[in-house]
Amino acid sequence: MHLLHLLPPEAAHALTIKALQLGLGPTLKNKKDLSIPLFGKFIRNPIGLSGGADKEAAALPGWSKMGFGLVEAGTVTLHMRDGNPQPRMWRMKGNAVINWLGLPGSGLEPFTQNLIAFQYHPARRELCVGASIASPDGVLEEFKILAQAVAPDVDYITLNASCPNVAHDGDHSFEYNAAMQIRAAKEGTGQGGKNVPVLVKLGPTRDATALARMVDAALGAGVDGFVATNTVPFSYSSLITHHSTLTWPKHNDKEVGGYSGPQLLDISCWMVSEIRMRIPTSMPIIGVGGVQSGDDAKRLLNAGANAIQLYTGLIYKGPALVEEIADTLSS
Ligand SMILES: Cc1cc2nc3c(=O)[nH]c(=O)nc-3n(C[C@H](O)[C@H](O)[C@H](O)COP(=O)(O)O)c2cc1C
Repeated sequence: MHLLHLLPPEAAHALTIKALQLGLGPTLKNKKDLSIPLFGKFIRNPIGLSGGADKEAAALPGWSKMGFGLVEAGTVTLHMRDGNPQPRMWRMKGNAVINWLGLPGSGLEPFTQNLIAFQYHPARRELCVGASIASPDGVLEEFKILAQAVAPDVDYITLNASCPNVAHDGDHSFEYNAAMQIRAAKEGTGQGGKNVPVLVKLGPTRDATALARMVDAALGAGVDGFVATNTVPFSYSSLITHHSTLTWPKHNDKEVGGYSGPQLLDISCWMVSEIRMRIPTSMPIIGVGGVQSGDDAKRLLNAGANAIQLYTGLIYKGPALVEEIADTLSS
């Protein structure tokens, strides 16, 4: 981890993916049965890798070997994208990150090829694979095409409706846009011949009324589950307790990017417990935000999440974090 942190964040990440592709990643030692029911099957444990860590679904066998029970690959967009200009990812004090990547990636074609290749890998049976999809311009047809293309090879789809690093349709409310996207994606999965569950990923909030509005709109559009939460944009930075001590990165004199790290845990736990109260008991919630220890994971599961995801914790603690969470959950 020390050596990786000598590199700029994006270079360290690219090197990690390369190492995993070469089979150089660690193997989970914990062999206790932590399996849980999710998406109509049993998954080996409720520990997930969150959206953005493997944008191209390029290292799925490596994540499985590391011990994850669930990987949300992507976010994938229909076309190749450069994303925002560099620098666009910063390590912050307090085990946090601010990223302003802007959904860079090679587009749908190589993403689906990686998913298809993984279908024949022995690790596929053990790993729950999700695809995070987005249309940076909010084009509904793109959600349909993306969902149709990935559905045959994944266990669920998440709509990244809350990425703070791309423009959103300001003419309509978040809940209107999300509802339209859910409908488009569900139409797409149907046409893909496999009606995989469609989840929506929400952005951070502490406003119970706003959250209830979002949840009800998503339920009305036929959503199958929720992922909470995405990173904290500057405009919502007062949600973070120590926000005044953060020097937010700027582009053209304007603060950019989204915060992830330990300060998200209170928010994600609160959101998960609020969502849990509003939705059918059988509907899954994936809790994400601020998980950097076994106890953090336990807190988020106790708040009502069926499974948890993490990303920033892995940047600071490395694969030992997955082992620690597995050990905590099995004790
Ligand atoms: C560098 C970076 C890139 C991310 N990219 C995505 C993305 O493409 N799609 C997505 O849904 N979330 C993305 N996220 C958000 C994470 O999935 C997660 O919701 C957030 O970081 C909070 O969890 P954490 O505190 O465990 O990192 C990204 C986060 C980081 C740090």
